[in-house]
Amino acid sequence: MSLRDAATKVRENAYAPYSHFKVGAALRSTSGAVFVGCNVENAAYPEGTCAEAGAIAAMAAAGDTEIAEVYVIADCPNPVPPCGGCRQKIVEFARSDVVVTMATVSGRELQMTVADLLPGAFKRSHMDDD
Ligand code: THU
Repeated sequence: MSLRDAATKVRENAYAPYSHFKVGAALRSTSGAVFVGCNVENAAYPEGTCAEAGAIAAMAAAGDTEIAEVYVIADCPNPVPPCGGCRQKIVEFARSDVVVTMATVSGRELQMTVADLLPGAFKRSHMDDD
């Protein structure tokens, strides 16, 4: 199944009673496995957990630590951009040249690299002693 199909399918499971904005995400890790996530909101924090964060958590829980490709989809006029927090989460597990595809249900797509999505990202290497 393509990442687009996987993200489209999991989007149907999004729990978004506050925003009414359903998002689906699918990623392929460097092992070749596909992990999916949808946004899950709650009354205390109505923005909830993003779809991308869910897919990354599923990957980490399965023991994979490197993202090869990301796809995120929502029903909006323009391709849905990952929030700032998700950009940092993607950076943690992806090389800077990994491609993130942002998409709409209607078929529009925008591709950006991780470096383009979060230039100047704070990384673990910044905490290294020199
Ligand atoms: N959302 C995502 O899941 N991913 C994004 O890339 C953008 C926003 C969710 C969070 C929240 O449940 C809803 O969309 C509205 O912000």
